[in-house]
Amino acid sequence: MALSQSGATRDHWSSRSAFILAAVGSAVGLGNLWRFPAEAGANGGGAFVLFYIACVLLIGLPILLSETLIGRHGQSAAPESVRRVASASRASPRWDILAGIGVLAAFMILSFYCVVGGWVLYYIGVFIGDIFTSGVVGGAFANQSPEAIEALLPNLFANGPMMVGMNFVFLVVTLYFVARGVSGGIEIVANYMMPAFFILLVAITVYGAFGGAFGQTLDYLFTFEPEKLTGPVMLAALGQAFFSLSLGVAGMITYGGYVGRNVNLAGTSAIIASADTVVALLAGLCLFPIVIAAGLAVGAGPGLMFQTLPHAFQEMPFGSVVGLLFFVMVGFAALTSSVALLEVPTAWIIDRFRIVRPLSAIIVAAGAMVLGALAALSFNVLSDWHPLNFIPVFEGQGFFDVLDGLTAKFLMPIGAILTAIFVGWIADRKLIDMENGLGGALHLFWLFLVRFLCPIALVGILVVGIFPDLFG
Ligand code: TRP
Repeated sequence: MALSQSGATRDHWSSRSAFILAAVGSAVGLGNLWRFPAEAGANGGGAFVLFYIACVLLIGLPILLSETLIGRHGQSAAPESVRRVASASRASPRWDILAGIGVLAAFMILSFYCVVGGWVLYYIGVFIGDIFTSGVVGGAFANQSPEAIEALLPNLFANGPMMVGMNFVFLVVTLYFVARGVSGGIEIVANYMMPAFFILLVAITVYGAFGGAFGQTLDYLFTFEPEKLTGPVMLAALGQAFFSLSLGVAGMITYGGYVGRNVNLAGTSAIIASADTVVALLAGLCLFPIVIAAGLAVGAGPGLMFQTLPHAFQEMPFGSVVGLLFFVMVGFAALTSSVALLEVPTAWIIDRFRIVRPLSAIIVAAGAMVLGALAALSFNVLSDWHPLNFIPVFEGQGFFDVLDGLTAKFLMPIGAILTAIFVGWIADRKLIDMENGLGGALHLFWLFLVRFLCPIALVGILVVGIFPDLFG
């Protein structure tokens, strides 16, 4: 034990704002741009969105603060940070299992996340090509039928070598930044890409707002219809809040490990959670007006961004350029998240085995490439392979869906439940008091949420994950 490099020798964020940008970069990703609008559309709009915001405030934010607090106190990779908090609290070092689960989950998410990152790269290529065939001024996909545009995604899915190749490229770019270290690599990517991302998002949203359908979108996303707030909708919202804030997989424990003593964690966590939520809402405001104005279906689920949206670019002046910028923006957001995902297991290997950073990152990336290739091939040549067929909830699912389901339904909720119990009930009260930067009533309210509301809500996700038919 205690193999970690700590104190002055350990790389740190160069400033508080660098930490905020990197953490926002970790949180903002495909979860906001691809998953949030898809889930909001599939779950009926307003009720989902408003409940989602409540989940972020009452459950996500307290856990986010709990994770950064463990990391900042421990100043190490996630499992060692948990052990240090445990030892300062005279608790069992075995609580590090919560971070161990997180490291495993981050590795699994990384594997399939980079597959989707590969799809984004492919679409960037499609739109670059389209600028040459359709020209700059008119719409994208000149003279192509709607069926041909829809077929882009299934055609990609059917192309095994392309899927694996794009996955590889995306992972190598991720690896490059992680191998360069915290202040020299991870921070750089966030420093340049997050501002570029925000500018593109606002620009495309404003552009879409002028295309009409903005009022309809506001109605759709923010009208609260209580009868639509069913059990499955609530659980989808809570799961989405967790995924989007990068919680339950030791990600924020890891990033918190590079935060200096002088940073107020409560204020910083609030900024991170707000930024992530604002981006999710903006993504909705960006996507839906374009989709609604083109008369397309909002409930397309995962196909919304990759199949429905490209249609809309066909109708739009400068369609190929706007489409290209849109997918470049998605690529930036995805990259800052995949960098965070790779960092979690990499930091653990550096700490645990004292292997230098570049080699540690390569080892993790190589593993993620193997799982990722299997996930990519589960859309084509391996589509008949259902690895967990003997477990009812995974019956008939390919490897990609199994990775997604195992992490979202099991590892993430279990990691988060243990985090809430550890911080709320086990860790030393004085230590927590000192680290969290909250005072008085706010501190008590936070403690109440971490002790009671968070574990109960998370057990709910877990139970429904195991027994999906509970709500009929
Ligand atoms: N929050 C990321 C997104 O919205 C995805 C994600 C989930 C993640 N867990 C993570 C990123 C852990 C970094 C670390 O796309």
